Amino acid sequence: MDQPRFIQRLPKIELHLHIEGTLEPEMMFELAQRNQIALPYTTPEEVKAAYQFTNLQSFLDIYYQAANVLIHEQDFYDLTWAYLLRCQQDNVVHSEIFFDPQTHTARGIDFDTVINGIYRALKDGREQLAISSQIIMCFLRHLDEESAFSTLEQALKHKNKIIAVGLDSSELGHPPEKFARVFQKALEEGFLTVAHAGEEGPVSNIYDSLELLKVSRIDHGVRCADDEQLVNALAKSQMPLTVCPLSNTKLKVFETMREHNIVDLLQRGLCVTINSDDPAYFGGYMTDNFVAVADSLIVSNQDLAQFSRNAINASFISDSEKQRLHRYLESFLVGEASFS
Ligand code: ADE
Ligand code: ZN
Repeated sequence: MDQPRFIQRLPKIELHLHIEGTLEPEMMFELAQRNQIALPYTTPEEVKAAYQFTNLQSFLDIYYQAANVLIHEQDFYDLTWAYLLRCQQDNVVHSEIFFDPQTHTARGIDFDTVINGIYRALKDGREQLAISSQIIMCFLRHLDEESAFSTLEQALKHKNKIIAVGLDSSELGHPPEKFARVFQKALEEGFLTVAHAGEEGPVSNIYDSLELLKVSRIDHGVRCADDEQLVNALAKSQMPLTVCPLSNTKLKVFETMREHNIVDLLQRGLCVTINSDDPAYFGGYMTDNFVAVADSLIVSNQDLAQFSRNAINASFISDSEKQRLHRYLESFLVGEASFS
């Protein structure tokens, strides 16, 4: 079977997806009209033309502004539901999604409005589309510790809906130690932890996320390649890296996909996974990310399947759910082998 068709049908698990990053320009216009919000663009095409980024910050500036169109619980529901329909097209069977409460609470939107809209769509996704999911709440690292503590406080009554806390936004100048105390409190409250580290920032952010924030996964982490000892330690511990290939080329972490180190890290035995990060901004969803890797780097179908195996192992689901997904993936692979 040809590789694009294999990729399309391959069962996929997404572990690094910002729900605010799934806001397509068409929906941005729809919500702006519905909520009477002025946009600095006149057409969705104009919006797309503005997506020329030079680094992470140049993206974040546009991304936070776009989130202003999200006001009501139904807006968060519609956003999440549209993403789930894309998951269905790409055969994503499980997704763990980030949301950034501070992006919304800073504009006067209630925490409850945000999480209730997302949660209701995910519940419908489980029931109607058979897509399982988890929610991860991220702290914005450009804001202060006090704001993060207040966000954690607001999350406590939604503990049953949130599996983990994470750390995102501008990595340079905002190291993990700034959030060591709030992550400690989150761990005491029973949340798992993850953090963006080694996307643009130095290797020390990966070490500190492991040591100070006690993370269960590193988001991005591609800069680990700067430190041979760290690469070996990540391979040994099977600490997962949630890598986002199209994001990394769009934000110039790598100039081209041919220079991306994801396949090299996979072949060195690291638990690397493929994810879409902010697909409405970076040129594609899960299938597009797998295709982009396969088009520019040398990977076998077995390698591509290994990304899905790694993602199952790295996910925040029960062992029995992991076994179920592994069985589903392996039976797909047996079926594919008998066709080729
Ligand atoms: N928020 C949304 N996407 C992000 C990324 N790639 N890095 C850091 N923060 C983000
Ligand atoms: Zn991200």
